[in-house]
Amino acid sequence: MTQTQFCVRTLASVILLLLTGILRTKGSHSISNIQGHNEPDEVGPHFLAQLTNITVPQGRDISFTCVVDNLGQYRVAWIKSDSKAILGIHTHMVSLNPRLSVTHNGHNTWKLHISHVQLNDSGSYMCQVNTDPMKSLSGYLDVVVPPDILNHPDENIDEGVSTEGGSISLLCSATGVPEPMVQWRREGGKDIIVRSESRDKQAFKSVEGERLTLTNVHRTDMGGYLCIASNGIPPSVSKRFDVHVNFPPTIKAVNQLVGAPVEREVTLECIVEVYPKPLNGWYRNEGNVKLHNSNKYNISEAMINLYMWHLNLTIRHLAKSDFGAYSCSSVNALGKSETRIRLQELRLPPKSTTTPTPHVHTTAKPRRKQQPSHNKGLNEVVRAKETHFSNQMQQENDVFGSGIGVPQSPNGGGGAGAGGIMASGNVNGMINGAEGKLRFRKFHKYMLQHKHRMKSGIRGSYKHSHPHLPDQGILSVCIHMRRLHP
Ligand SMILES: *[C@@H]1O[C@H](CO)[C@@H](O)[C@H](O)[C@H]1NC(C)=O
Ligand SMILES: *[C@@H]1O[C@H](CO)[C@@H](O)[C@H](O)[C@H]1NC(C)=O
Ligand SMILES: *[C@@H]1O[C@H](CO)[C@@H](O)[C@H](O)[C@H]1NC(C)=O
Ligand SMILES: *[C@@H]1O[C@H](CO)[C@@H](O)[C@H](O)[C@H]1NC(C)=O
Repeated sequence: MTQTQFCVRTLASVILLLLTGILRTKGSHSISNIQGHNEPDEVGPHFLAQLTNITVPQGRDISFTCVVDNLGQYRVAWIKSDSKAILGIHTHMVSLNPRLSVTHNGHNTWKLHISHVQLNDSGSYMCQVNTDPMKSLSGYLDVVVPPDILNHPDENIDEGVSTEGGSISLLCSATGVPEPMVQWRREGGKDIIVRSESRDKQAFKSVEGERLTLTNVHRTDMGGYLCIASNGIPPSVSKRFDVHVNFPPTIKAVNQLVGAPVEREVTLECIVEVYPKPLNGWYRNEGNVKLHNSNKYNISEAMINLYMWHLNLTIRHLAKSDFGAYSCSSVNALGKSETRIRLQELRLPPKSTTTPTPHVHTTAKPRRKQQPSHNKGLNEVVRAKETHFSNQMQQENDVFGSGIGVPQSPNGGGGAGAGGIMASGNVNGMINGAEGKLRFRKFHKYMLQHKHRMKSGIRGSYKHSHPHLPDQGILSVCIHMRRLHP
């Protein structure tokens, strides 16, 4: 029974297959017939070009152009795709938006004009022909807005202030379409230093994000920071923020011990690190006599950078009474700092009839424990070296060098790592011919006589000027002395 049923079924399928085969041949025939039928439709309306996509900054005027051939009795309409609103048909406006208009060139070109485009004009626009079914083309309008940085009326902060070690947060909100990227940079190409709790720090050329947070701020973080907003639509915009890091002053003397002969002038110098701007001053004695600009004193200060100042006190026509203690001081809201400078008379050798006028700057360093006196000097190395010296004088130079230089004495005698002293210097000046050499020899002698000064362990710069022969100018020698590291 089942077998018969199967046979019947198979037969039915075969018939069905045959039938569909016939139908297929018929079908393909009829399709080609329809295509032939389409011919008159081809001569009906058709588009000659795509609608262009338009990306434009807000506020500009734009237009979409639709080119249709063979329009016949049909009409061209403009439609906003998202709202399906008909904006205009042929040359007739439907939309009440006064910024929209439609035009026709009398031939095959229709235009939709949008003046002063707004953000909500963005979207797809359709040029449609009312055939059945209708034919249409779409073009996209993308209204963009260049970036802008918001100035919050109540939070118009363009600076960040903190005391050293605190934190500073700068906010830079930007608008624009598409949404802008905000980047932070430092003025002058400096790195932005990001410090973490663990005191690690990282340096970045730029940091991204609306908010820049600087923690554990340091004085070196001070200065201008720029936030730059960009979204690919020019122009990018930037805003400058000032970062201030407040800290109390630290003042240091350039030389703590200064020597000068009477009748000359001398300048005492201090360097202070402080922010905000301090009130600086110079004092005599134990800080109880404030000094002012006068015939005697010239007080000047120069900014080295945002938080460093160079303070000078020039004392003219040194008299005996001018020697002694001075102090420079600096004070701001966060604190005060002062340091002492000792001005010593520098006695000149009672020598030639002419008056040599050496001029010596020294810096006192806490002396190392001196060796027993018989050893004194032996542990010390004095070496002089000249540079910038004219060729003629090279020989003299050598003499000078070897004469004054005590060859490196073995450090052994004293032991105990007693640091030696090294002097190096340069000889500049108008040294010419025999007279020059003569003067130089005199100077050389002078230096030999004063070798003890160099051995005395005083560190600093020695400058010597010798106006022996006024018509020949001044010979000046600088010798810089420092302790040799053991
Ligand atoms: C317009 O943009 C759409 C995508 O937004 C794209 O499919 C289409 O090809 C574009 N038309 C032209 C003419 O570039
Ligand atoms: C589009 O935005 C403008 C202002 O930008 C507004 O005046 C207008 O009403 C908005 N139109 C629509 C349809 O939202
Ligand atoms: C003080 O010295 C500076 C140069 O160091 C000079 O420019 C200034 O005029 C001097 N001031 C007085 C009051 O002499
Ligand atoms: C005084 O200060 C200035 C910095 O303003 C510095 O250049 C100069 O060398 C200092 N010393 C003297 C002796 O003027």
